Amino acid sequence: MIEIKKIDFNTTFSVRHPVLRNGRPIETCFFDGDDLETTTHFGLFFDKNLIGVISIFKNKNSIFSVQNQFQIRGMAVLEDHQGKKLGKKLLDQAEQVIIDQKGNLIWFNARENAVPFYQNSGYEILGDAFEIKEIGIHYLMFKNLRQ
Ligand SMILES: CC(C)(COP(=O)(O)OP(=O)(O)OC[C@H]1O[C@@H](n2cnc3c(N)ncnc32)[C@H](O)[C@@H]1OP(=O)(O)O)[C@@H](O)C(=O)NCCC(=O)NCCS
Repeated sequence: MIEIKKIDFNTTFSVRHPVLRNGRPIETCFFDGDDLETTTHFGLFFDKNLIGVISIFKNKNSIFSVQNQFQIRGMAVLEDHQGKKLGKKLLDQAEQVIIDQKGNLIWFNARENAVPFYQNSGYEILGDAFEIKEIGIHYLMFKNLRQ
């Protein structure tokens, strides 16, 4: 059985750590703003086990001029469960919550390997690749929610 529920930021760490911060100290799983009231974290539970996470931050990127922007961070599915459309379920859930909050735009820094996953859901790349220290090559990606 699959269930998506709101979770606390520290609950995300059991997925963030092996998938996004493997081999690094657990403290590196904390993102600035994780504990803000405007930040929402979702977990996907498969047979009651947390196997995927996504976080939504109310955060404006000055590259975009529209108001009410949201940033997605910490999108991760445990390796054994990847490729089963569970990441897409989490991304769809985040998108719906942002639409419900009258968000105009979603943006994030996507790892190079995840770009096709996001393109599959209608996100576009803006600009050139850039390096995030100790993590790797990223692209700025976005989706306009209102045309
Ligand atoms: C990226 C990630 C979240 C995707 O979740 P997932 O559950 O594996 O992906 P899904 O099975 O939901 O994929 C949804 C769609 O995207 C496609 N897709 C996913 N990853 C892809 C890839 N690397 N290349 C091409 N297509 C891909 C799938 O084929 C599927 O397409 P379909 O609906 O047409 O069949 C997951 O693989 C992951 O945690 N990766 C490691 C951490 C990471 O890179 N996180 C993103 C940080 S920005």
